[in-house]
Amino acid sequence: MDHNSNRTTPADALVVFGVTGDLAHKMIFPALYAMVKRGILNVPVVGVASSKWSLAQVREKATDSIKQAGKIDDRNALDHLLSQLQYVGGDYNDLGTFKALKQTLGDARYPAHYLAIPPSLFATVIKGLGAAGLADQARVIVEKPFGRDLASARELNRIALSVFAEDSIFRIDHYLGKEAIMNILYFRFANSFLEPIWNRNCVASVQITLAEDFGVKSRGAFYESAGCLRDVIQNHLFQIVALLAMEPPAYQGFGAVHSEKAKVFQAMRPLQQDDLVRGQYAGYRKEPGVAKGSDVETFCALRLFIDSWRWAGVPWYLRSGKCLATTAAEVLVELKPPPQRLFDDSAPVAGRANYLRFQLSPNSAVALAARVKRAGKEFVGDQRELYLLDEQPGEETPYERLLTDAMAGDGALFTREDAVEAAWAVVDPVLGTHHKAYSYKPGSWGPKQADALIAAHGNWHNPQLPGAAE
Ligand code: BG6
Repeated sequence: MDHNSNRTTPADALVVFGVTGDLAHKMIFPALYAMVKRGILNVPVVGVASSKWSLAQVREKATDSIKQAGKIDDRNALDHLLSQLQYVGGDYNDLGTFKALKQTLGDARYPAHYLAIPPSLFATVIKGLGAAGLADQARVIVEKPFGRDLASARELNRIALSVFAEDSIFRIDHYLGKEAIMNILYFRFANSFLEPIWNRNCVASVQITLAEDFGVKSRGAFYESAGCLRDVIQNHLFQIVALLAMEPPAYQGFGAVHSEKAKVFQAMRPLQQDDLVRGQYAGYRKEPGVAKGSDVETFCALRLFIDSWRWAGVPWYLRSGKCLATTAAEVLVELKPPPQRLFDDSAPVAGRANYLRFQLSPNSAVALAARVKRAGKEFVGDQRELYLLDEQPGEETPYERLLTDAMAGDGALFTREDAVEAAWAVVDPVLGTHHKAYSYKPGSWGPKQADALIAAHGNWHNPQLPGAAE
C-alpha cells in the first residue's frame, strides 16, 4: 500500500474513540485540559462512541472528569477545550458512523485517531477508518493491550499496517511516558561509570516489582479477559526490562533505541510453566464481572533470562499484583558480593550485596547502596544508600506527554511492531498453559510460592513507602 508519510506534520484534529468510557474520564480529559493550559492543544477534538449522548452530556462528562482529577484552576482553558469538543455517536460496525465522523472533521487533513476502546474493537475501527478514507495522512494511536497473544498481535499489526504506515501507528504503553522510566534510559547512557559493571560479570540479579494495594475495582470483566500477565507484565514491566537491559543505541535518535529494545525481547528466553507463579487475591471471585470459578491471575511473579552476551545467566525476577501491601514500583539491580570474605559482616552474611535501586513510583529516585564502616575498632559496617532524589515539580503526566507526541508525529515513546511481537513471543507459551493461580491474602505480598521462585537468588525486595519499616 502506498502511504503518504506525514511524520512531522502536526495533527490538525484529535479524534477520541471511546470518549464516553472510563479511560477518557480518568486520563484523557485531564490530559487534554493540561495540554490546553500549556497552549499546545488548539485543534478540534471529536469524541466518538456508540452511546447516544448529546454534545452537552459529553461536555458535562469532560468537566466532571477534570474536576475529579484535580481542580479547575483555569476556567478559560476549560471553556476553550469544551468549545473545541464535538461528538459523533454510532456503531463502530456501521460505515455510516465513519462517514459522519468525516463530515464532522470537515477540513481537517491530518487527524490523529485515538482508540481508547476495548482491544476487541481495535481492528473494526481501524478498518472503518480505512474504508471511509479517514486514514490517508492520518495517525492512529492504539491503547494497550496490543493483541492478547502472539497470533492476535500479528493479526492486529497486519490490519493496522494495511491501513496506516508504521510511522503513523502510535502504540501506547503509558509507562514509557513516565519521568522515572525515561530516566532509566538517560541514567544508563548519560553516565559512563555504570557500563563496566552493567553485565553478567558484576550483576547477580535484577528484580522489578510493580505493586498496587487496590483490587480490580470496576474492571472485573476486563481483568477476566486479561489477567496480570497480559495487563502489566508483557508491556509495562517488559518495557522497563528492555530499558535496563538494552545495548547502547548506535546514534542519537529513537530509531536506534527502538532497535536495541527489540533485540532485548528477541533475546529473552520464552517462559516455561515453572518460571511463573500466578496468584489471585481472596475475594477476587466476588468482584463484579468476575466468574465464580475464575482462575485468572491478579498476581504474577516470574523468572526471566536474556540470552545475550551481556546478560547470559543473570536471572531477572518480575512481580506485580493487585491488593498487595502497598502501591509502589521499584527496580533493584543487585551486584555480586566481593569475591573474598575479608570482613565478618561481608555479604551475604549481612544481607544484600551492593545494589542500584530505581524507585519509579510513588516517588522517583535512584539509590546506590554501598557498605561503609561503622566507627570503632571492629571492621564491621552498614549498607548505606547514596540517594538521588529526582522529584521535579511540573512534570507532565504520561498521557499528556504521549498524546502531545503522537499529535506532533514523534514516535520516540511508543512501541514498534517488531518489539511488541517479540515481547508476546516470550509470554506466549505460558498464556494458556500454566499452573493454577494460588490464593493470597489482600494486603500481603502475594502467595508464598513466589518466594520459592526467587529463593535460589535471595529474596524479594519489597518497596517501602517513606516511614514504613521493611
Ligand atoms: C494499566 C493497567 O495499564 O496500568 C492497570 O491496565 C494498572 O491494571 C495500571 O493499574 C498501572 O499504571 P500506573 O500508572 O497507575 O502505575
